Amino acid sequence: MWWLWGVIGLALSVWYIEAGAISIQCGQRTLTRAVQDDVHFSVAVECNGAPTLRWSFMSGSVSRDIGTWQPGNFTNITADYSDRAQAFANGSMLLSNLRVQDAGFYVLTVTEGGGSSRDVGFVLKVTEVLYEDLQYLSVSALALGCVAALLMFCMWLLDRLYHRVRAWRCRKRMPEADETELQML
Ligand SMILES: *[C@@H]1O[C@H](CO)[C@@H](O)[C@H](O)[C@H]1NC(C)=O
Ligand SMILES: *[C@@H]1O[C@H](CO)[C@@H](O)[C@H](O)[C@H]1NC(C)=O
Repeated sequence: MWWLWGVIGLALSVWYIEAGAISIQCGQRTLTRAVQDDVHFSVAVECNGAPTLRWSFMSGSVSRDIGTWQPGNFTNITADYSDRAQAFANGSMLLSNLRVQDAGFYVLTVTEGGGSSRDVGFVLKVTEVLYEDLQYLSVSALALGCVAALLMFCMWLLDRLYHRVRAWRCRKRMPEADETELQML
């Protein structure tokens, strides 16, 4: 009886090895890059036959496809990523010109011809470059300075105008006073 269990066990383990025939080797899985940099999600996929490689992105409630390809067969990168994502035969993907919104979770799903599949995930952090902040700060400071200078100039102009008008009204009133004085005489 128990040779039967042995056979079933052997069958199960062979099935398990078959199912686990996809091997995914990858380097660092938590990556930090600056805005406008490139990131290379480096993996080396090995399996029986041609794998289908599918990359997708997740962040909070956002989830979207980046691309699906089969080495030597087809490459289908979605429109959103067509100019920024590059597919490699070993499953790697290069994403260039990073934005802050690219920070999140990247998943590669490898599917074999037989239908079994395996996932591997990467975390990408995107930092903003400090000197851009400094540039932004100095530009805002300059803009504020210009506005302040303009305001001061306007105030000076108004002040001058006020004095002018006062002087003119005084000059205009004076002859009138003379006239009334003359009439009274
Ligand atoms: C995958 O292929 C790319 C391009 O040929 C290469 O730069 C990268 O190092 C490879 N990754 C691994 C893990 O072998
Ligand atoms: C590429 O992907 C899009 C969206 O996932 C799909 O509509 C389109 O049919 C695919 N094209 C090919 C050639 O597989």
